[in-house]
Amino acid sequence: MAERIYIFDTTLRDGEQAPGISLNQREKLEIAEQLARLEVDIIEAGFPITSPGEFEAVKAIAKNVKGPVICALARTDRRDIDCAWEAIMFAERPLIHTFLSTSRYHMEYQLKKTPKQVVEMTKEAVSYAKKYTENVEFSAMDATRSDPEFLYQVYAEAIKAGATIINVPDTVGYAVPDEFAALVKGIMENVPGIEEVVVSVHCHNDLGLAVANSLAAARVGARQIECAINGLGERAGNASLEEIVMIINTRKDALNMTTGVNTREIFQTSRLASMLTGYVVQPNKAVVGDNAFAHESGIHQDGVLKHRSTYEIMRPEDVGLAESEIYLGKHSGRHALKTKLEEMGFYLDDKGLERAFVRFKELASKKKEITVKDLEAIALDEIRTLEELFQLEYMQSSSGTGAIPIAAVKLSREGRSYEATATGDGQVDAVCKAVQKATKVKAKLVAYQVQAITKGLDAMGDVTIKLELDGHEVVGRGVSPDIIEASARAYINAINRAVQKGLLEKKKLARKAKTTARKPGAAKPAPRKSKSTKK
Ligand code: KIV
Ligand code: ZN
Repeated sequence: MAERIYIFDTTLRDGEQAPGISLNQREKLEIAEQLARLEVDIIEAGFPITSPGEFEAVKAIAKNVKGPVICALARTDRRDIDCAWEAIMFAERPLIHTFLSTSRYHMEYQLKKTPKQVVEMTKEAVSYAKKYTENVEFSAMDATRSDPEFLYQVYAEAIKAGATIINVPDTVGYAVPDEFAALVKGIMENVPGIEEVVVSVHCHNDLGLAVANSLAAARVGARQIECAINGLGERAGNASLEEIVMIINTRKDALNMTTGVNTREIFQTSRLASMLTGYVVQPNKAVVGDNAFAHESGIHQDGVLKHRSTYEIMRPEDVGLAESEIYLGKHSGRHALKTKLEEMGFYLDDKGLERAFVRFKELASKKKEITVKDLEAIALDEIRTLEELFQLEYMQSSSGTGAIPIAAVKLSREGRSYEATATGDGQVDAVCKAVQKATKVKAKLVAYQVQAITKGLDAMGDVTIKLELDGHEVVGRGVSPDIIEASARAYINAINRAVQKGLLEKKKLARKAKTTARKPGAAKPAPRKSKSTKK
């Protein structure tokens, strides 16, 4: 019988640690609900101690998302574990995931702890977490650069203290498949009690080997794979969930493994994660890239037309990739839009639905065929819109041969209006400068990307913008049939994320502290506590 592999999704925790990503509660919940439809086994919802917003988001997921186990990350500190528990206690099946470094590099330079202290901290943390819940995972961070004998000892103590899952992370993406499999095999053979627990692996992709390493470990007995949609995660990311699942599905003959994932939800999950994180999927990405099922050369097209098996090892419909159907037209009303959006899994509140309807009507007056991708883009833009932050009320821009590009914007925030006009090198530059002026947020534009959502000249433009504020990156995304408007929306979205992350507040405080310091004889400002702990 095929071995069942548990899929532990860490898109909302490790994935969210990728530079520039900052999801709000609504967005995290939306992704978690989609992960439940994807039928992953475990959702690592976040790292609750890192900020009040993160805590609330994990709590909302634990309360609302049914099906998968809901997990929260915690360092070995008691306060971390308390906080993780408070966030997930309402889940149907909660899991506390605690971790501690075991490599010489980390113990000596980062933790400044001896191996003996690390063993004690592990025991203490696992038994403390165990007071709250039966399900406790322990990770030995930087396991692949740790002394294997020491690892055996740490894992044995974690199991004795009650850990039910033992995770072997390749934290820095350093391992190669044979070596990683040998490490996991060594753990399976030398750790007392290991047969009572699930052995998990968590591989990073620094050398492009995360998927290969995870599968090599599964071949020697690991039964849980930690991975993220679109391979999101720290630095080069984590093992990509869609690749792991589709390899296991497609190569059952070679691997004799199976998962519980509903593969038909893969494409939708990938798009949702991409749209909400602002991380665009590369066109040639395995399984979910735009070209993953596109046959360009004449010979390949000829073969596929004669029989799909000539050049297709997976069917597009197996990952939920169907031709976009036409759903609604310019005569459709609010109710039809609401019903269609709900069928697609998007539940907007009244205000959101009203805004989406206005945009839908605008689009329908410009574009003959409204596809599922268009509706999805409008719905996702609404989900990204944060009620309490800046919103675009209107924009206007003009340019022409020999004319200076100019743009005007009107934004609103908490009932107040913010208007500005600016000129620029081009219309995109002008509209971004107008948004900067209106919001009074000075940021450096470090990346700008535009892509079409559907085919054809009337396609909606999907703009991704990366801004840098005081050394922090934020990514914003916006869609519209007009790419200048899409650019304004993306820029505003990035600023809203900076507000959400508390970056602007920190910037203001820094400026205030500087001004105060310049005043001769001024009292020293009281030290302020930062609102959030950096993950
Ligand atoms: O990469 C890593 O080691 C981690 C742990 C917290 C599991 O993300
Ligand atoms: Zn990681």
